[in-house]
Amino acid sequence: MKALIDKLRRDRVLSREKFRALLENRDEDAASYLFARAREVREGVYGKDVYMRGLIEFTNYCKNDCYYCGIRRSNDGAERYRLTEAQILDCCDKGYALGFRTFVLQGGEDPYYTDARMCAIVRAVKEKHPDCAVTLSIGEKSYETYKAFREAGADRYLLRHETANDGHYKRLHPPELSLSNRKRCLYDLKALGYQVGCGFMVGSPYQMIGDIIDDLLFCRELDPEMVGIGPFIPHHDTPFRGEAAGTMELTLFLLGVLRLMLPGVLLPATTALGTIHPLGREKGLLAGANVVMPNLSPTGVRKKYLLYDNKICTGDEAAECVQCLKRRIDSTGYTLVTARGDYKKDPEKL
Ligand code: 5AD
Ligand code: FES
Repeated sequence: MKALIDKLRRDRVLSREKFRALLENRDEDAASYLFARAREVREGVYGKDVYMRGLIEFTNYCKNDCYYCGIRRSNDGAERYRLTEAQILDCCDKGYALGFRTFVLQGGEDPYYTDARMCAIVRAVKEKHPDCAVTLSIGEKSYETYKAFREAGADRYLLRHETANDGHYKRLHPPELSLSNRKRCLYDLKALGYQVGCGFMVGSPYQMIGDIIDDLLFCRELDPEMVGIGPFIPHHDTPFRGEAAGTMELTLFLLGVLRLMLPGVLLPATTALGTIHPLGREKGLLAGANVVMPNLSPTGVRKKYLLYDNKICTGDEAAECVQCLKRRIDSTGYTLVTARGDYKKDPEKL
């Protein structure tokens, strides 16, 4: 196993067969060796710094109906909300005072936020906080729309691919959504000069090792600046309510693998990881992650943006989360910093 991990570190990729051997035969010893290598690589690029992103969940209306997601349009149980531009700016101001220099505007695919409205919001945030990065996470759009957002000042875009296997994609989404359009979006975003994040759920229903290998190889091909991965967690009002959650163990292992494949990648220790285990985010940082994304949404709407059950931090003020995270990160030997935290090209890369 160590030889395979060393090879992955050297070559940044493995053949399908070798990835399968690594994933199928992984054990605790392999994981601790992998995590130690991942930390070396991460510290070589980013030192001990952990970047924070202020997540603003500004709408839970969604026109899509993904089978795993708690804010899917057919969930009549979800209490819907939208934030106004003024409310969003207020979240940013509070976040700025707490040291945030990146704001992630995330929402369901909500047609209320037309291109004009979205561009106005992005412009307003950038005007007020010109030293901050704005990240959008609002789903699939046309090239023209992504271009307009970029011209309005958006710096980064998160759009998880969810699974890079076509057959698996169809089992997680209704027929109107396709993997090919997801990929088209990600390549459009890259072409427009965004720092781009793809990503996938670990342990989503029907996922097999082969699908995960497809995910890893797709990450290799896209060469994203960010990758978001977290365990699938069932939501009680979705078709997947009875399915098993993904495991922390596999999520951590994949964080380590991704760090070796993409040395400079911005890799969050996700809220979902913190939800399935009380020390999930700390363990994520020690496996190769270097980003945390606490919530800046107003406390009144926190519980309504429920993609999965038992989500953490839905009752806490942003300031409390920052304090709590600071303590948690200190316990790992890493340091939470106030910085935009842009992508750094791995120095060894030609
Ligand atoms: N469990 C874990 N992650 C989920 N997401 C959506 N629903 C769930 C769930 N039930 C993730 C998706 C999406 C991101 C915003 O949240 O990967 O891209
Ligand atoms: Fe929110 Fe710990 S990060 S309470």
